[in-house]
Amino acid sequence: MRNTVTTFQDQKARGDKITMLTAYDYSTAKLMDEAGINSILVGDSLGMVMLGYKDTLSVTMEDMIHHTKAVARGCENAMVVADMPFMSYQTSVYDAVLNAGRLVKEGGANAVKLEGGAKIAAQIRAIVDASIPVVAHLGLTPQSVNAFGGFKVQARNEDAARQLIADAKAVQEAGAFAVVLECIPAALAAIITKQLDIPTIGIGAGAGCDGQVLVYQDMLGLFSDMTPKFVKKFADAGTVMKEGFAKYIEETKSGVFPAEEHCFKISDEVLNKLY
Ligand code: KIV
Ligand code: NA
Repeated sequence: MRNTVTTFQDQKARGDKITMLTAYDYSTAKLMDEAGINSILVGDSLGMVMLGYKDTLSVTMEDMIHHTKAVARGCENAMVVADMPFMSYQTSVYDAVLNAGRLVKEGGANAVKLEGGAKIAAQIRAIVDASIPVVAHLGLTPQSVNAFGGFKVQARNEDAARQLIADAKAVQEAGAFAVVLECIPAALAAIITKQLDIPTIGIGAGAGCDGQVLVYQDMLGLFSDMTPKFVKKFADAGTVMKEGFAKYIEETKSGVFPAEEHCFKISDEVLNKLY
């Protein structure tokens, strides 16, 4: 059964943790869907982990649609959430609705995610009014990396913590059905989770959230350019892949691969005519 906004709400009410991972392609999305994940985020983190940029700012609407389409084709039950890339919603309410619509209509997303609080409440409201579910994203919002002066823990002092609580309430009020909390103190995320009716999904925000999300390359050990403190390596797929690649190179060079079972046959009758 497809996970929806109501499934998320029920999970919060029951205390059943919401599970979310990022994915950017058909095969990976299908594996996660089959494993039973509640939701897949086509994150603009794809700029870093798939495309090799140093941050998420260069990601385009075309990049997002391309990868969202692939993920959507791989999902039967998971809710597909697509990130709105930098400058696809900050510029105006009109741009926000238009681009959210493209992620649903062309990409096949079930919901969209935007970074920011009270400042983008009008965009959230307008997208929700267009019947597109919205996930908000607060705390360390990577599209603001230049304004923050780097990727660092947010809301550690009283003013910033109060601002974050106010922003969480603002996005709920604007109609967001869930909010991602990234890289903030665990105790603060727990307070926000208690004060909100909508579920919180944490990344570097502790166990008090209603759900968790991780970038899949991080949790599988496939990305080594940067490893934040909040990442747990659930499998060392990077090592498994490297060993597989090395074995292929070795066996190809030594002639062990391809063996007879990997080869196609032709009848002797045809073959004899070729000599
Ligand atoms: O782009 C992304 O992967 C994200 C998650 C880290 C929440 O926004
Ligand atoms: Na993102």
